[in-house]
Amino acid sequence: NAPAEQRAAGLDFDPVAPNELDEVVVPPGYEQAVVVRWGDPLFPDAPGFDFDRQTAAAQARQFGFNCDFAALLPLDRTGGAHLLVTNHEYTSEQFMFRGYDGEDPTREQVEIAWAAHGLSVLRVDQDGDGRLTPAFSDRNRRITATTPFLLTGPAAGSDLLKTSADPTGTRVLGTLNNCAGGVTPWGTILSGEENFHQYFANADELDDPRLARYGVTGAATARKWERFDPRFDLAREPNEANRFGYVVELDPHDPDSTPVKHTALGRFKHECANVRVARDGRVVAYSGDDERFEYIYKFVSTGKLRKGDSRSARRHNMTLLDDGALYVARFTGDSPASEVDGSGELPADGRFDGHGEWVPLAAGDRSFVPGMTAEEVYVFTRLAADRVGATKMDRPEDIQTHPHTGVVYCALSNNVDRGEEGRKEGATEPNPRVRNKHGQVLELTDRGGDPLSAVFSWNLMLVCGDPDSPDTYFAGYDKSRVSPISSPDNVAFDRHGHLWISSDSAGALKGHNDGLYAVPVSGSERGHLKAFLTVPRGAETCGPVIGERVVTVCVQHPGEVDGASADAPASHWPDGGDSQPRPSVVAVWRPGRRIGE
Ligand code: FEO
Ligand code: CA
Ligand code: CA
Ligand code: CA
Repeated sequence: NAPAEQRAAGLDFDPVAPNELDEVVVPPGYEQAVVVRWGDPLFPDAPGFDFDRQTAAAQARQFGFNCDFAALLPLDRTGGAHLLVTNHEYTSEQFMFRGYDGEDPTREQVEIAWAAHGLSVLRVDQDGDGRLTPAFSDRNRRITATTPFLLTGPAAGSDLLKTSADPTGTRVLGTLNNCAGGVTPWGTILSGEENFHQYFANADELDDPRLARYGVTGAATARKWERFDPRFDLAREPNEANRFGYVVELDPHDPDSTPVKHTALGRFKHECANVRVARDGRVVAYSGDDERFEYIYKFVSTGKLRKGDSRSARRHNMTLLDDGALYVARFTGDSPASEVDGSGELPADGRFDGHGEWVPLAAGDRSFVPGMTAEEVYVFTRLAADRVGATKMDRPEDIQTHPHTGVVYCALSNNVDRGEEGRKEGATEPNPRVRNKHGQVLELTDRGGDPLSAVFSWNLMLVCGDPDSPDTYFAGYDKSRVSPISSPDNVAFDRHGHLWISSDSAGALKGHNDGLYAVPVSGSERGHLKAFLTVPRGAETCGPVIGERVVTVCVQHPGEVDGASADAPASHWPDGGDSQPRPSVVAVWRPGRRIGE
């Protein structure tokens, strides 16, 4: 018998071995099942899913495509009922329609895509083992690319946000490319509008560097939505793209509420936003801009949290993200640059670490950026951060604060352009590898654990990849005992304070499907990363929620591999046989036991 494997409390499971199976693989003793999948009806009047006869009207009443973020919000104190809120990041029409002609999509196909974006709210009931079952309820809701939103905060009403359909600059139809998100302490959902650039056509005709800085370039889009709604044609509606790229807030407990876009948190390719409450009641939101060489931001509210779950408290708290100060992070390493050579090998002090500062960009109507008004800072936030010399990071994805220590964890997914000729820069201590395929996990501590502090210390906890490779680091833990991981994307915590990480590697580690991993962040097991599950072929793992009795993940884009399509599917998960793959939410539980016990 092999010696007993050391296990942290709450992480007592055998790691899942790397595999390329077309299924969700969980540790021995655990069970798993799909909770809801693309096309499942969310309302009693919704038609059942029919891949070959899909309609926009049906899709608007069904679960959307490519679920990413997920939250489970308790509906009562027994733990028996929750609202499952999910983002639907994007559509891939070649996987949604047989014989799809990208040069000539039909109006129906485009309207199906609009209806498959956005968010879903779905009641789920939980049994004593942890198993989740979807239910119809009066809270169930679909938000799509055509649902009305209110723009709020200091840039609302700005000339930069006005269009012919909305001369007030305050009302927008829809939310697009919602990636990760967060649950606020007041019970609402935050959702980040990420790669919005791809929906807007004919930027070439405007020749505006402010558009180009967001990657809004070119003529026709791949989706051709501009043929069916002129707001997606910048030559006709030059400001429409300025109305996407925000943090969205939704009150899922009020199905009639109008969701908002908070301009005070800035406009960039928001992966997420997660809120922490300071000792004096002000709230702080961290958010990453997920693109190569982009930045990490922090917002500090002016107002203070009102406690309690009354309707008036929630209404007040939903205004907190509209007034405050926006900062961007500037990192400094403590090792000589000569020791950060791009190889990923540790410098002489044994750590990639240092200090940093939060550089103010704007507060309320006041800009701190020379040559930019406050409105410009909020709408063209990337340009503001460029001007103050913020630190270019390796794709900042999800950011979460540790519930016990206040340490901020950020997944820096990867950056294959770092150090490449003609690209922006080479290795820096927080981004220590050139051609970084596998990413790293950052720990950032605002001074004194106070999220209001303008300065912080930082270190890399993980430098990801194949643990046999010398350019990886697992917090100094014995690398022969950890699971390989590439491209960390979402981060979450369990009730013990262990960090859980989901991955989105697009095949960067040969022979490895993506997965969900757990790792202690303190004690003798710090760095002992173990795979808890892996997802089917071509999928990324996202939206992890780690409960006492159940773990849920979103399985996004199963079967999305080069050359695959609805005419040649690379996955038949979850329905099996010769079925088409369907993005889904999966629950994992262990009958009669708590997770990890
Ligand atoms: Fe949509 Fe940043 O991953
Ligand atoms: Ca160092
Ligand atoms: Ca993501
Ligand atoms: Ca990702």
